[in-house]
Amino acid sequence: MTIAIQDPTAVLDQSSSAISASQTAADTGRRIVTGDRPTGPLHIGHYLGTLVNRVRLQETGCAVTIVIADYQVITDRDGTGPLRDRVRTLIAEYLAAGIEPDRSVIFAHSLVPALNQLMLPFLSLVSDAELNRNPTVKAEALASRRSMSALLLTYPVHQAADILGQRGTLVPVGKDQLPHVELTRLIARRFNDRYGTIFEEPEALLSTTPAVQGIDGAKMSKTRGNTIPLGAGEDETAAIIRSARSDGLRRITFDPIARPQVANLLTIVAALTGDDPHQVADRVGDGGAVALKTLATEVINESLRELRRRRAELLTDVGYLDGVLLDGSARATATALGTLEEVRRAMGMDYFSG
Ligand code: TRP
Repeated sequence: MTIAIQDPTAVLDQSSSAISASQTAADTGRRIVTGDRPTGPLHIGHYLGTLVNRVRLQETGCAVTIVIADYQVITDRDGTGPLRDRVRTLIAEYLAAGIEPDRSVIFAHSLVPALNQLMLPFLSLVSDAELNRNPTVKAEALASRRSMSALLLTYPVHQAADILGQRGTLVPVGKDQLPHVELTRLIARRFNDRYGTIFEEPEALLSTTPAVQGIDGAKMSKTRGNTIPLGAGEDETAAIIRSARSDGLRRITFDPIARPQVANLLTIVAALTGDDPHQVADRVGDGGAVALKTLATEVINESLRELRRRRAELLTDVGYLDGVLLDGSARATATALGTLEEVRRAMGMDYFSG
């Protein structure tokens, strides 16, 4: 079977009308702010859902800022984990996927203290009832099986400081992050109303790439161990896919409701090749789960080969990765300090200016 592997950045044109619709001149020059929690290595769900999208936005000339949200790691867990390695791996994965550190900014919360200072006035603009209503925060509190920490309750305000501090106008996120973008808009609006307009209300950019499920059919997540990590070797990838749940029907069809696991593998293949999942199903035909898994393994390994090679190479150069983080954090600090100065001026805290 021949497989046409796409330019990874072209994936969006095929599978995401919202994103490709946004690839117009109007979006060029927008300021993108997005981020990840460094809780483990990235997997194919991140790749298809967000990484490819970020690279595409970078290619269209948008200023892309990626927040490594290290302070969000402790919103719902008791420790930070092996952060240094995780942060380096994350940076290697961004760069291997095509983020260019000269054009885009990668920074870590903990390296940009100016960002935290924005949180104080922002906290004054929201009520505890509004924070308690946030459905994503509620779900996270429930899943953590802990009582809600004050950081878990307020991190969406900190996230608003990420976005507004970096002057973000477009925030590419998954659905779960929409309440946070809404809150960010609310904070911008209320700040502008009280102190004079300095913030633009950012918009969310929802990826419409179909969500990739875990290989066990549940939500793909690092903690469930049901992912296909970007850094997995080719044999490891084959083993993971071999162990994926499927059904015994020989004829492969794309039916997300009745055959979710089969549909999931078809979705991954379709997203990587730019085909329609029904077409992929037709190509596999009567080959059953075995043929589908063979195809999925080939397509994934082929699509990620170059990324994996660069990832491995980058991980041998820790000094370079650290330099990217330091440089990105310095640039993010400069932007955040500029915002902070405007905020202080608007609030009458510019004590020494005349
Ligand atoms: N909360 C986001 C997540 O868990 C990560 C994040 C942190 C973020 N800061 C951000 C996303 C700013 C968008 C913009 O995925």
